[in-house]
Amino acid sequence: MDKLDTLERDLMREIAAAGDLQTLEAARVSALGKKGRVTELMKTLGGLDPEARRAAGQALNALKDQIADAIEARKAALADSELDARLAQERIDVSLPARPFEVGRIHPISQTIEEMVAIFGEMGFSVAEGPHIEDDWHNFEALNIPAEHPARQEMDTFYLREAADGTRKVLRTHTSPVQIRTMQTQKPPLRIIVPGRTFRADYDATHSPMFHQLEGLVVDETTHMGHLKGTLVEFCRAIFGVDDLPVRFRPSYFPFTEPSAEVDIGCSRKGGELKIGAGGDWLEILGCGMVNPKVLENCGIDSSRYQGYAFGMGVERIAMLKYGIPDLRTFYESDLRWLRHYGFVPIEAPSLVRGL
Ligand code: PHE
Repeated sequence: MDKLDTLERDLMREIAAAGDLQTLEAARVSALGKKGRVTELMKTLGGLDPEARRAAGQALNALKDQIADAIEARKAALADSELDARLAQERIDVSLPARPFEVGRIHPISQTIEEMVAIFGEMGFSVAEGPHIEDDWHNFEALNIPAEHPARQEMDTFYLREAADGTRKVLRTHTSPVQIRTMQTQKPPLRIIVPGRTFRADYDATHSPMFHQLEGLVVDETTHMGHLKGTLVEFCRAIFGVDDLPVRFRPSYFPFTEPSAEVDIGCSRKGGELKIGAGGDWLEILGCGMVNPKVLENCGIDSSRYQGYAFGMGVERIAMLKYGIPDLRTFYESDLRWLRHYGFVPIEAPSLVRGL
């Protein structure tokens, strides 16, 4: 019995001292394992007389249970503190700055189109679209561009292979065919803008075989040249953000408008640097005019009742002027360094209220 008391004290001390699950398991094996100290004592019971065997047996079993319970309790305590330690170590510091992530950029062409749409949208225009591959009638004929017109020459224009009926489709050379498509499918009053891709056989620092235009068309019973001028002066000042920008209408010629004009904005070219605004020099930026009655008639619109105006401009040209981009070809090179420099942050959608 004395031996048992000493053994109990020793074992309980060992269990309490076990600092991790491995040490605890070693203590369990040395007490209750096949060759453990309690197990060895159990084996000696056989040599005792029945009286003493019963008493010693009870005491040994009680010790066995006590040790097993103590081990379980210690195990639970160790697991808890291990979890506490892990929680303390793996804690997330929400005040740390977030990891950076890659944000794409809006291409200056898209940005400029968005800005134009924002300005004309505010004036009540809606956006229309049309196909890039056009037929001769929509791209030329209906717009009063006769067969012998230089715009039709192979050197200027991309034609597709001749169809069985002898006709040839063309990559649209301007957004004006969408004027025709809109007048054929919608009834006046019309007030549309048409941003989109256009194609011509040109290639140098200011011309690309694929480029973008923005077309405008208004048709109703009362719109006159004063509205055309007011709208375009307002547009030029808004897009360049210059309130007193000088704007000049210069007589010109387009087959689909009559009268026609080209619009110049004021600038200065002093010291080889181009600055938009008052400065005594002029820069051409768009073409416009009153819709030629022949074009209205080609679309089945009564030209004695309806009239309107149209305009067209190059998006690249405006983007180059506004954002100081010197070479048009860089727009299409997909150079990420260029895009990071000239591109725009996606969430800052252009709006007139916040400024363009
Ligand atoms: N379509 C003309 C061009 O490409 C531009 C324009 C459009 C002119 C509408 C007048 C009216 O040059």
